[in-house]
Amino acid sequence: MAMRVALIVALASHASALRVLVVGGTGRVGRHVVAQLRAQGVPHRVLARDPAAALAALPAGTDIVAGDLADVPSLRAAMDGVSACIAVSGVSRFTRAADLLTGRLFAPDPAPPSESTHPYVANERGMSNLVEAAKASGSCGKIVRVTGLSVGRPAWSPVALLFNCLLSVSGRHHANGENALRTSGLDYTILRPGGLSDEQKRAGRGRLLGAALAPPARIGRSDLAALAIECLTHPDASRATLCCAWTAGAAPDASAWSSLLAAARPSCRDAPAGAPRRVPPYRLAVGTAACAAAGVATAGIARLLGAALGVRLPPLATAAAVALAIALNAGRSAARGS
Ligand SMILES: NC(=O)c1ccc[n+]([C@@H]2O[C@H](COP(=O)([O-])OP(=O)(O)OC[C@H]3O[C@@H](n4cnc5c(N)ncnc54)[C@H](OP(=O)(O)O)[C@@H]3O)[C@@H](O)[C@H]2O)c1
Repeated sequence: MAMRVALIVALASHASALRVLVVGGTGRVGRHVVAQLRAQGVPHRVLARDPAAALAALPAGTDIVAGDLADVPSLRAAMDGVSACIAVSGVSRFTRAADLLTGRLFAPDPAPPSESTHPYVANERGMSNLVEAAKASGSCGKIVRVTGLSVGRPAWSPVALLFNCLLSVSGRHHANGENALRTSGLDYTILRPGGLSDEQKRAGRGRLLGAALAPPARIGRSDLAALAIECLTHPDASRATLCCAWTAGAAPDASAWSSLLAAARPSCRDAPAGAPRRVPPYRLAVGTAACAAAGVATAGIARLLGAALGVRLPPLATAAAVALAIALNAGRSAARGS
């Protein structure tokens, strides 16, 4: 109880001195964050890779600082005098055949900083850079980070498998970025929204907040921005990892984010030490799917060639090719971890 009172007092004084750095403020969620901070009179600054474009996209008078998640000195400069940060930045990139053929898809360092659309650069390395800059600032005590609902799904779930196969194992990079925050010693809230839309919340629709929500789930960008701002100072958002979405249909509409945060289950809140959560075995899941596809394709080509040459392959050749590819991948995954 005494700890909770101390936390509320600390957060109340933090709220009065709030000065927020918005990373991703030029994005579709970020623009709502900026507009709402402005409407609430909360001092803020936007980190932008292209300040001229940000100037045109954001309300006149917005404090804009040039910076990039891949550029550590720019993050340190942006953090100057800031008390909290909302990071709604992110990128996505389709998996390339070269990633699979060269094996770099699962390399610990799969892309150089210049490859700005790679999720490793912005969502994993970039988050580590942001955390280090916040710690070095001595003033930024809280980061609210937006990732995605699929990050909390098991590696073998159809949604996670689809996203990770198509989008350069995006879940792994988000999960590692989340863990950089959990182990930083800073206060944080990690928000995992369902699919984002630009719809407004209609009357009769409710809100959901919890340790895990099942897809399909959707949420409006404006409402997500409101939640991210609420999490800056809400005591029950401290060290929490929360999935969020709208309820479909005519659910009770009384639930405000603040009361949902107060009711969020303890399982959403991480231990005070901020121990990282285990990263799901993405290498094994995505590698198995890729090997199965490659095995089927190879066996198909072999059958076509065989037919053209008048050679009949044994019927079990396809199954054997797929099984061999999967077994080889499983062996490699076990040796290297996820
Ligand atoms: N789309 C979905 O359904 C969905 C679902 C769940 C979660 N999410 C997450 O929510 C995030 C925000 O969504 P959104 O619709 O607002 O995305 P968005 O419009 O694509 O905005 C992404 C923002 O990230 C910034 N950014 C990217 N790389 C950066 C870097 N290296 N340094 C600094 N800033 C960088 C972009 O800045 P620039 O203006 O310089 O490009 C932009 O402001 C997504 O990125 C994703 O991680 C999305």
